[in-house]
Amino acid sequence: MKKEIEEQYVYMKNVEEIIKDKKMTYSIFTMGCQLNENDSEKICGMLEKMGFSKIEEQSKADLVVFNTCCVRENAEDKLFGKVGEIKKQKEDRGTIIAICGCMMQEEHIVKKLHSSYPYVDIIFGTHTLHKLPEHIYEILKQRKKIDDVIDVEGDVYEGLPISRTDNIKASVTIMYGCNNFCSYCIVPYVRGRERSRKKEDILNEIISLAKSGYKEITLLGQNVNSYNGGKNYKFANLLYDVNKIPGIERIRFISPHPKDFTDDVINAVAECDKVCKIIHLPLQSGSSNILKIMNRKYSKEQYLELVEKMRKTIPNVKFSTDIIVGFPSETEQDFEETLDVVKKVKFEQVYMFIYSRRVGTPGDKMENQIPEEIKHKRFDKLKKLVESQIEENNKEYLGTQQKVLVEGKSKNNENMLTGRTDSGKVVVFKGNEECIKKIVNVTIESDHMWYLQGKIE
Ligand code: SAH
Ligand code: SF4
Ligand code: F3S
Repeated sequence: MKKEIEEQYVYMKNVEEIIKDKKMTYSIFTMGCQLNENDSEKICGMLEKMGFSKIEEQSKADLVVFNTCCVRENAEDKLFGKVGEIKKQKEDRGTIIAICGCMMQEEHIVKKLHSSYPYVDIIFGTHTLHKLPEHIYEILKQRKKIDDVIDVEGDVYEGLPISRTDNIKASVTIMYGCNNFCSYCIVPYVRGRERSRKKEDILNEIISLAKSGYKEITLLGQNVNSYNGGKNYKFANLLYDVNKIPGIERIRFISPHPKDFTDDVINAVAECDKVCKIIHLPLQSGSSNILKIMNRKYSKEQYLELVEKMRKTIPNVKFSTDIIVGFPSETEQDFEETLDVVKKVKFEQVYMFIYSRRVGTPGDKMENQIPEEIKHKRFDKLKKLVESQIEENNKEYLGTQQKVLVEGKSKNNENMLTGRTDSGKVVVFKGNEECIKKIVNVTIESDHMWYLQGKIE
């Protein structure tokens, strides 16, 4: 283990000593993507190792952590609203407030926190997550304010404790950062350049997850298929190796970039029986003009060819995607091209976003920004098309037998179980609790917009 991490274990012990008779609690609010959630699991791991216990009600917690995201604008108002609300709680009971995550890597946000919310105790960025124990120690000892945001390249730290939210499905970050600089996107600025974890560290983590009973693994990264494990060990090699781990039954990964979806990765998806045959393939726009300005490095035709190639190599493969509407200079014709790709590919799921200007990105400086009402009109039109396609796709499941990984009782109906198909569809069915954590065959009998209902075989 690296020296920096060993030092943090010492801080964890010291904090444990200080708070041991105090029964201190924490609550965490995670605002971002799955990478952000995985970071939160590490934060929870460190806090629990120090002796804090997790509670849901923020108003009763002794420590409140906000793990922020800045990929779109609305998150800012939300954070400032929350930090404003908690002021009274801090005055009343001395709550410790810590804010971390991607937004803290933005200078103007940290400045605003300093000037308008001076009562925040700890601010730390994405590259210094592992130092939380030290910061908590300092606060408990001296109650001084801590600022720990660094702009330099982050390192890859192994060996932090982790407290996971689920006991069937687990996320495993395989690489950090992004080198792509899509012109709308803030992520490369706040997460730094690409750094891959060592294959041994990843495989050992998954082996131990399998031993603790986890069945499904999602490999995470901003650009997973540019994973570089050194010595010709690439993403495809990792898929083959994870596929061999006994006990793991399903493997997913997000997000791959279409430009890096090389033949070896396509073959690995086809050949690895545990890799789910649904690929999240972010499109962003269907117009080659817009894709060029977005710096996506593929055209509409190349995207569609890639889809066709995968369909030939991977039987019954399905797709999901991300789309942005209203990028600067997007014309009606450009938008129609996006609709055209959606019609052609018939995605299982589309995550739709209205373009949001991010300070410091090239997109923000572009002329021809699209008026809000046009963006919203396009968004609504896309949403209608997507929903009608999901309905059509759902019909294709009727009468088929699906392998469902059972996750537990349905939240809406105690007598029913719920799980997901390989393609990620939620399936609800009657069955006994012994099925939980197992893959069972379910025949689909009816379809609803966001779930399917079926009968266990
Ligand atoms: N690295 C991943 C995802 C990054 S963020 C990828 O390349 O696919 C998740 C999604 O948020 C992106 O795919 C994009 O669709 C959306 N997004 C990113 N920046 C955005 C912005 N400025 N405005 C609106 N949506 C954005
Ligand atoms: Fe952002 Fe593009 Fe990197 Fe994804 S690949 S994180 S969209 S810059
Ligand atoms: Fe948001 Fe950071 Fe993820 S900006 S989308 S939490 S990498």
